[in-house]
Amino acid sequence: MSGQGPAERAGTPHYDRVAEAATTIRSAIAAVPEIAIVLGSGLGDLAGTLGDQVSMPYGDLPHWPRSGVIGHEGRLVVGTLKGRVIAALAGRCHMYEGHDLATVTFAVRVLGLLGVKTLILTNAAGGINTRFSSGALMVIDDHINLLGANPLAGANDERFGPRFPDMSEVYSARLRRIADESGGAIGLSLPHGVYVSLLGPSYETPAEIRYLRTIGADAVGMSTVPEAIVARHMNMAVLGISCITNMAAGVLPQPLDHAEVMATAGRVRGQFIALLEAIVERI
Ligand code: HPA
Repeated sequence: MSGQGPAERAGTPHYDRVAEAATTIRSAIAAVPEIAIVLGSGLGDLAGTLGDQVSMPYGDLPHWPRSGVIGHEGRLVVGTLKGRVIAALAGRCHMYEGHDLATVTFAVRVLGLLGVKTLILTNAAGGINTRFSSGALMVIDDHINLLGANPLAGANDERFGPRFPDMSEVYSARLRRIADESGGAIGLSLPHGVYVSLLGPSYETPAEIRYLRTIGADAVGMSTVPEAIVARHMNMAVLGISCITNMAAGVLPQPLDHAEVMATAGRVRGQFIALLEAIVERI
């Protein structure tokens, strides 16, 4: 068994909970999605654009964790985009909400058991690299895990993957190339960079941002890394894209706030959706 979620402690094996959710989803959809997209803050409405869609509120899926941040918005939508069957997750759980990482990565485990081969992780992030500007879409080349925890800690379930999975290419080089081509096709030149994940929920201090820049990070956020680790554990190909919703603390002489994050995400939503469509077409 792996994972230490509350239901786990109550005696329901993590694998069985994941399998039960996967079975429920499979029985509701006509075709298994090859590609899944986790939609970051403010980007949830791609889900609504899918054709022939089946929409499953998280509350209808067994064992699916609820996120306080997303309220009633959380849902899994399976449908078509550019002729491909994809799964879109509008709303995700974060460690800062008090969830353990088995809970945070539950959805990715379910997607893996469903048979998803490619996982696209999107997020809102603060720009550490001063060459970036707010509204940029950054291709994640690699990550740094500063959450202080790893979703694979605890007993390993070999049905999910190996005890010591390789992390030398978490974000697929092929998919990163496809992202560049897709950006080019819609007139966007995408910066690349290293994403660092911190627990949050407080934003960073300027001193922390200087430290993160020194260790090689270009963008900072509070998600994505646990999901990417679990996806690689299950041998899915991963692509990560950060929407730089604000410059990180201390870069500009102004405070950070969540409203700015949401406003920037809203401003680039059309571009982001166009990019994701172009990527899905090329995968
Ligand atoms: N820091 C951490 N997480 C974030 C930020 C930030 O500046 N912007 C959006 N998510």
